[in-house]
Amino acid sequence: MRVLVLSTPVGDAELAADRLWVAGARAVEESTSQGATAVFRTVLAEVDDVSLALLGELPPDWVVTFDEVDDAPAQTWREFVKPMVINDYLVIRPAWLPAQRNAQVLEIEIEPGGSFGLGDHPTTRLSADATWRLARTGSRVLDVGCGSGVLSIIAARRGATEIVAIDIAEAAREATNDNSRRNGVSARLTVSTTPIAAVEGTFDLVVANVLAPTLVAMAGDLQRLTASDGCLVLSGVLAGRHDHVLAAMEPMRVIATSELERWAAVELSHP
Ligand SMILES: C[S@@+](CC[C@H](N)C(=O)[O-])C[C@H]1O[C@@H](n2cnc3c(N)ncnc32)[C@H](O)[C@@H]1O
Repeated sequence: MRVLVLSTPVGDAELAADRLWVAGARAVEESTSQGATAVFRTVLAEVDDVSLALLGELPPDWVVTFDEVDDAPAQTWREFVKPMVINDYLVIRPAWLPAQRNAQVLEIEIEPGGSFGLGDHPTTRLSADATWRLARTGSRVLDVGCGSGVLSIIAARRGATEIVAIDIAEAAREATNDNSRRNGVSARLTVSTTPIAAVEGTFDLVVANVLAPTLVAMAGDLQRLTASDGCLVLSGVLAGRHDHVLAAMEPMRVIATSELERWAAVELSHP
């Protein structure tokens, strides 16, 4: 397994940890034993170039290297995770834990593999709740940066009939296919590594839980792909620090914002 090692000035530690979580880190080990340097070890993708692409452009004094390690120690986080309660009606359950079988609750089963989206990160929790509320029976949904496929599966279980899920990471494509089969919705999902610029048509709901710079870069495509009476949900942005993302989405306007643990999700519509 390829472990990514990120070294940053200690003053940037919080920013660096956030960057790793949003890039898809499952578990991040941090040490500041090297004085003025914070060192983070995590796993993003099997291919180093993909890990670098997921991280995006970094400040010049942040240094990335890679280590090869045995798989076993990197898997211990699995013993500690719990089902994630998103709202009164939706739970995301790690696939290796027993089902709760409460008829009132929609339970999504996720095996993240090497991808992001077990439901424990605040941006996934915010996006999952928005998808649960906004995906309508018979609707078309686009999931940009699908990771484990968690949002696509919620949309499908809420009755969306056609879901297109895209991600730059091959591991995410595999995980989304695998998880859609586990949850019995694979017939309604099309999963690929197609770039957003090549996606055609319009969607009643577009969800994009990716880094703010990526959202800005995709702004034109996100607007183009959201139906005139549809809704665009953005996450992966920090609460109170995403005005530049909203500016890039103009003339779309904000209809709701939700926040959790310093993160935000924003719902937008066309004017
Ligand atoms: C924060 S994770 C979100 C995963 C899942 N949708 C969730 O909400 O938990 C971001 C995902 O976006 C993907 N990603 C990053 N840049 C992308 C791009 N330009 N196009 C498509 N996917 C991208 C990453 O590979 C990663 O799986």
